[in-house]
Amino acid sequence: MMAFSSRPGSESPGGPSTPEAEALKSSSPVNLFEYEPVARERLSQIAYDYIVGGAADEITLRRNRERFDGILLKPRVLVNVSKIDTRLELFGQQFDFPILLAPAAYQKIMHPEGELAAARGAGAAGATLVVSTFATTAIEDIARSATARLWFQIYVQRDRAFTRDLIQRAEAAGCQALMITVDTPILGLREREKRSSFTLPPGMERENLKMLGSEATRAEHFKESAMYSILDPTLDWDRIGWMRSVARVPVILKGILTPEDARLAAEQGVSGILVSNHGGRNLDTVPATIEALPAVVEAIEDRIPILLDGGVRRGTDVVKALGLGARAVLIGRPYLWGLAAGGSAGVQRVVELLRAELVGAMTLCGTPTLAHINRNVLWPS
Ligand code: FNR
Ligand code: LAC
Repeated sequence: MMAFSSRPGSESPGGPSTPEAEALKSSSPVNLFEYEPVARERLSQIAYDYIVGGAADEITLRRNRERFDGILLKPRVLVNVSKIDTRLELFGQQFDFPILLAPAAYQKIMHPEGELAAARGAGAAGATLVVSTFATTAIEDIARSATARLWFQIYVQRDRAFTRDLIQRAEAAGCQALMITVDTPILGLREREKRSSFTLPPGMERENLKMLGSEATRAEHFKESAMYSILDPTLDWDRIGWMRSVARVPVILKGILTPEDARLAAEQGVSGILVSNHGGRNLDTVPATIEALPAVVEAIEDRIPILLDGGVRRGTDVVKALGLGARAVLIGRPYLWGLAAGGSAGVQRVVELLRAELVGAMTLCGTPTLAHINRNVLWPS
């Protein structure tokens, strides 16, 4: 097995500069795409394959991007855009801008400081980070490092007492919402992971699953049979009802793609849904999230907020998603490239770049607040 990269040094935003932060400055990515090659240089092949990959032929992975590119904007002129306001309220929580960081497993393979660096970078940028159940750092430790809001993503475990405990741990640590991932009864066909025999390197574990024993913390990621010990294919709507009754913070379902499931989610009384195809990593040949969004928005009829992730890389993508009815978006791979490229400073910079692009796009579209962004901002197709 190839070794995972491990680099010394840590940096805190605003603190002393490190070789990593300096290297990042000298390579100066000017947009989110440009973080990927910088990250690739620093990552092992195994870690790179794990992050970059989609399922099977990666048709959905590519489509997530292509469909954003296929939507055109309709700018209006002679609107006073001297002040751009990107603030919003969701689930009673205030956000400075509608971009969150999606849950992603195993961040210590991306940077030695893993989730702690991600949390510090998110905090420095003022972004909400959704911490994965499969984090390589315990949620309590991440919360101690965090300076901005955290949410927690749940991979429901068969053991109800454990799942209840996990929810309560996340809440006790201060996580302000739970995102239950519902599109992963098993992992998709991860051929890149198969080829590189992806497995967690020694010394890294799924720290949040410790109480389930070493089988759960170290189980191979891809092997389907082993996955059954850390994912639960029996998860169904009844159990979502149970999870809601246990949770004290808003519950959001991650991985809704159809109007049928969106309606059921609203009927179940969840607080929100995230239109997601898991970044093209699960079932290949499903639609891009941006093309699935309109039917979901129509089915929900404003009953609960809808978020979207998958392929968001540009400020204009954020405007397009909001124009089609999403309240906010999440990014996955871009901040992981930032993490690999420059630790917390890289995460911070990625968020700041996208946020600045959003402000620029709103200015040029003639939409000074998020409330101004609706279908009128899209060129009729
Ligand atoms: C993910 N994603 C994910 N989702 C989840 O619910 N729990 C998890 O642990 C992970 N882990 C994970 C690891 C890596 C390396 C990636 C790339 C993705 C999916 C993630 O939350 C999100 O849905 C997508 O990444 C969004 O698409 P983009 O922005 O990566 O195109
Ligand atoms: C992934 C899982 C862990 O996408 O969500 O790799």
